[in-house]
Amino acid sequence: MNVLGIETSCDETAAGVVGGPGLQEQDELVPAAGEQGGLLVDVTYSQQVHAEFGGVVPELASRAHLEKIVPTVSTALRRAGILRPDAVAVTAGPGLMGAVLVGLSFAKAAAMAWGVPVLGVNHLEGHALSPFIGAALPRQPFLALVVSGGHSSLYRVAGVGSYECLARTVDDAAGEAFDKVARMLGLGYPGGPLIDHLARQGDASAVPFPRPKAPGLDMSFSGLKTAVRTWLEKHPDTPRADVAASFQEAVVDVLLDRLGRAALDTGLDVVAVSGGVASNTRFRQRLQSSGMDLRIPPARFCTDNGAMIAHAGRLGLLAGRRSPPDLGVRAVWPLGSASSSGLST
Ligand code: KG4
Ligand code: ZN
Repeated sequence: MNVLGIETSCDETAAGVVGGPGLQEQDELVPAAGEQGGLLVDVTYSQQVHAEFGGVVPELASRAHLEKIVPTVSTALRRAGILRPDAVAVTAGPGLMGAVLVGLSFAKAAAMAWGVPVLGVNHLEGHALSPFIGAALPRQPFLALVVSGGHSSLYRVAGVGSYECLARTVDDAAGEAFDKVARMLGLGYPGGPLIDHLARQGDASAVPFPRPKAPGLDMSFSGLKTAVRTWLEKHPDTPRADVAASFQEAVVDVLLDRLGRAALDTGLDVVAVSGGVASNTRFRQRLQSSGMDLRIPPARFCTDNGAMIAHAGRLGLLAGRRSPPDLGVRAVWPLGSASSSGLST
């Protein structure tokens, strides 16, 4: 079953196709166990229009999605060598509503024209399962950390569609903190990759930034962001690379601390890490040497992409999930809430 995945929740217009045997050929398939959907293609158009504003402008994002959605999807289908997919998976939330609307409207119309089912996918589920694009799911349950621009959450995954949120950020998301600190350092947007790059020339122990704590396993990054601002006010001559490296190290310490504690608390040893921040070079190095049973996608599947939506959608479709014809967008859609299964939205 070839599934077209469409992602337009923020500033990437993306389409991916994931394929492999469907239920007809594999009747004994236990949903999500041992099922490997191979990646056929992934096409991502990153909108440049926001750079001069230092952040994503929702109205401009919607307009750019509208312009790019048809070329992006047709390129993906052409590269996959198919005229039409067997099903369409599409991000239905959470995200910028105007942006999600473009992808969802397109997906519903295309699925109707092709006469194939459509499944609304939770963007966070796309990230959480992205370490397993083209690979089998691990033994369940396992831990999944999603660290992106809008979310920093830790889940216990009991199976596809079964997520328990163990922790979240109480204020800024990790990626948001990267973006805000990059702005303070005059680096531009998006800030994560720019800090990642600059930090390579810096000394991570140069500035003693705090490692903020929140109750339980929760995370907090806004105090750290304020600490950077205060430091820059008091010590404006500190090399920016040292500030970047020290800030980055603090974020990585907090994330590793939370993961380590969660593994200890739950007794789960497999840890799947995803989302834009999971493409951070230093974070990946530290994760690799942490001794955890780590599952992490290649960097291009950490930031928003269509393959992760195709992949999560395909697993959901194989498990029998379908969205109703009146599928709508969901601005707030916590993973782990009753309807995150995609059965209804
Ligand atoms: O997952 P994503 O593409 O979009 C959301 O769902 O939010 O994540 C984007 C976030 C941005 O905040 C961006 O600055 C951050 O991920 N990011 C990074 C890196 N690449 C992207 N943060 C740290 N290091 C990176 N290399
Ligand atoms: Zn994302």
